[in-house]
Amino acid sequence: MPVDLDSLPSGAARVAGVMGWPVHHSRSPRLHGYWLRELRIDGLYIPLPVRPDRLGSALSALRDLGFAGCNLTIPHKEAALEFMDELSETAQRLGAVNTVVVQDGRLYGDNSDGFGFAAHLEAAAPGWPADRPALVLGAGGAARAICNALLDRGVPEIRIANRTLAKAEALRQVFGERIQPVPWNTRDAELADAGLLVNSTSLGMTGQNPLEINLKQFSADGVVYDIVYAPLQTDLLTQAAARGCRTVDGLGMLLHQARPAFAAWFGVEPEVTDALRAAIVQDLMQ
Ligand code: ATR
Repeated sequence: MPVDLDSLPSGAARVAGVMGWPVHHSRSPRLHGYWLRELRIDGLYIPLPVRPDRLGSALSALRDLGFAGCNLTIPHKEAALEFMDELSETAQRLGAVNTVVVQDGRLYGDNSDGFGFAAHLEAAAPGWPADRPALVLGAGGAARAICNALLDRGVPEIRIANRTLAKAEALRQVFGERIQPVPWNTRDAELADAGLLVNSTSLGMTGQNPLEINLKQFSADGVVYDIVYAPLQTDLLTQAAARGCRTVDGLGMLLHQARPAFAAWFGVEPEVTDALRAAIVQDLMQ
């Protein structure tokens, strides 16, 4: 079959990638690659396997190699802070960077995880009850980004149920009094007057322990959001749908968080379409 050279990166291509260790599990090369092809952009997005002890030199090399920037994934998001020349307010507040943009030879660190969380929530459950308390399960890095996004959108109170209560209390120190740490074993009761339930733990993920929760006290007009996307339809979402609640799965967060980075590197705002989602879902099932 003849190869269409116009569909391949040229010598003038803008280059970005994802740094992680390991990085082979990352969906980002195919996600950004999909948009590059769809939008016929002269660009390239590649996996960058970077050992933790080489992170500083790898980030510095982005400048030397003329990269447009990169994404950061496990275990680099927090460690990257010290290597940035400038940080967005969000990255500072979250203490983590997932997007690096090279601007005039300087590294600008941002974090779009909270943006991705909220953009998908708004797309999948428009009019979600932002005027009622939310219950967030988990208090790790994902929970931090989620709390930041929910507080920005005016949620009056966020209850955080976490196995290790001290980590929920640490989030109250960061975000203030709208954060209410609650014991892990009170999670069912804390749902009584809540409008949104978010699972930010790894419970329910393929190969992990199940998430044990009873939604009986949760209002049927509430929204349930599970950031786990393997499986896409978790037991939590199945239980929520059976109660009549609107449900939001974890894949959209992954897709939407990539939008600001793509726009910054390649100069075009990409869209999260049903076709993109279907392609990534198929990829996940392989
Ligand atoms: P991430 O950065 O993706 O949020 P993380 O920082 O490792 O990942 O956080 C994982 C979350 O899942 C934590 O809130 C963790 O609870 P602890 O803070 O007590 O560790 C939660 N989690 C993981 N396994 C759990 C389990 N078996 N029971 C309850 N919570 C669990």
